[in-house]
Amino acid sequence: MKSQAYQSVLFVCLGNICRSPLAEGVFRSIIATAGRGGNLLVDSAGTNGYHTGEAPDPRSIRVAHEHNIDISEQRCRQLAPGDFARFDLILGMDRSNVAAIEARRPKGAETTTGLFYEIALGEPKQIPDPYYGTDADFERVYRMILAASTGLSKLFL
Ligand code: 4NP
Repeated sequence: MKSQAYQSVLFVCLGNICRSPLAEGVFRSIIATAGRGGNLLVDSAGTNGYHTGEAPDPRSIRVAHEHNIDISEQRCRQLAPGDFARFDLILGMDRSNVAAIEARRPKGAETTTGLFYEIALGEPKQIPDPYYGTDADFERVYRMILAASTGLSKLFL
């Protein structure tokens, strides 16, 4: 039987340079503060591979840094079929991410997928793509990710 608490999560957005690296960093920070960092698997990926190998967007690095979180060493990668065997949860930032995740689900894979904010807090909100936005949009995205990560951490503790 599956244990009640999740042990692993993959955060997914389109590019893996703006939203999902921030979600990875914020969620890691929350579980580390709760004394749970070591035994959980936390990662992020993009549904496209345009930025593979790159660091997060400088605006995401900056907003994380402003909140004492360092995401500068993370590197972009694309969602891979093997992720469905490695992660209990694969969470998209918006509905198009969730659709793209589902489109890649290998036959028979039982991983839970869904909208990050909704799985975490029960409200069907999407975390909007800030790529063409302003610094204020990145701060808003950070706040949504912080709220959702705090909610999600309760499913892990
Ligand atoms: P993200 O934002 O999905 O939050 O990482 C984007 C970053 C890059 C692109 C799109 C979205 N892009 O098309 O290059």
